[in-house]
Amino acid sequence: MSSTIDSSLCRVGLIVTLAGVVYLIVMFSWFSPSNNCLTPLPRTENKNKSSITDAVEHKPILLLWVWPQDYRFELSDCKRFYKIDNCKVTDDRSLYSDADAVMVYHRAISWDLSNLPPSPRPPFQRWIWLHLESPTNTQKIPGLENLFNLTLSYRSDADITVRMHLTPRKKPDEEFVIPKKDKLVCWIVSNNIPSTGVGTRNAFYREFSKYIEVHMFGKAYATFLDFNEYYPTVASCKFYLSFENSIHKDYITEKINGPLAVGTVPVVLGPPRKNYEKFVPGDAFIHVNDFPDAKSLAEYLLQLDKDDEAYGRFFTWRKHLTPTPHLIQQTQEFVLAICTACDYIVRHREYREAHDIYEWYFN
Ligand SMILES: *[C@@H]1O[C@H](CO)[C@@H](O)[C@H](O)[C@H]1NC(C)=O
Ligand SMILES: *[C@@H]1O[C@H](CO)[C@@H](O)[C@H](O)[C@H]1NC(C)=O
Repeated sequence: MSSTIDSSLCRVGLIVTLAGVVYLIVMFSWFSPSNNCLTPLPRTENKNKSSITDAVEHKPILLLWVWPQDYRFELSDCKRFYKIDNCKVTDDRSLYSDADAVMVYHRAISWDLSNLPPSPRPPFQRWIWLHLESPTNTQKIPGLENLFNLTLSYRSDADITVRMHLTPRKKPDEEFVIPKKDKLVCWIVSNNIPSTGVGTRNAFYREFSKYIEVHMFGKAYATFLDFNEYYPTVASCKFYLSFENSIHKDYITEKINGPLAVGTVPVVLGPPRKNYEKFVPGDAFIHVNDFPDAKSLAEYLLQLDKDDEAYGRFFTWRKHLTPTPHLIQQTQEFVLAICTACDYIVRHREYREAHDIYEWYFN
């Protein structure tokens, strides 16, 4: 009995002593100027970082060789719009020999190739071919075949694919209300140059507009739309003609994203329905190929105009998917592409031999 008391007294004494020692060590460390375990060093004193720290903090550099179409934007926009902040986009050519990737805009390359980045290129550097047009609207500049390590395109089989996505949501959205409509069918057309492949959609439109009124807007027509009128205008129509200029696999552009984003039903003309359904639920849009001719499509839309319940069913997807509006100012046309590339080079650092871009693009 007494020995038990003795030993527990002894244990208490030992604990008190240990606590005292620990206290002294902590106090000593706390006030010791040489110790940097407890007091973090101010950042400015840390100029000569070890190479390990360097590797962690070094952001890969994406050098934009030219501004596409000369559309300049703030290089901080990747962070602002897409929360992409793990890489550095620059247009400063003096960083060439240090750039992890160099992005070259296809349409800016001169036919004699004299405005390409200089050779030899640093061995670690990858060149990215930036091109968002369809093959119909692509000039085959000779000499580019085996220069680019990475391709950036709307195509799913590009190294870097650029497109707007619908995002699944965990909690269903029961709140969505179809915006007020005062027009039945609308179409914004900015390009009507025959060589760009618009013949198919124009022929369809000519026939279609015999049976239904289409409100036309855009550069190609008298009613020019300012960019901040784009979303409200699209939202005010029950149907929007998302007609691509040329028909190619995966060539499904912001023309369908706009109406999906604001609550309007897209009527699409482009690749087959199956291709659209890779990216967009089949009940979210109407495909012109679902009808034998333009007349029966017009009749179907007129019928939907009188049937709110059937029209409303085109929006059931919104319960589980969230659309993302795209940037609409002209100067913002390439922001998503460039930011996506920046993010890509951080995640994919592996070696990639250049392959023939034309063989891939045109065949
Ligand atoms: C930084 O580190 C390097 C290599 O360890 C050394 O040669 C150099 O003198 C250091 N510079 C400073 C300012 O301490
Ligand atoms: C990029 O492609 C060129 C040409 O094929 C090749 O010489 C170079 O090693 C590649 N670079 C990287 C980092 O993949």
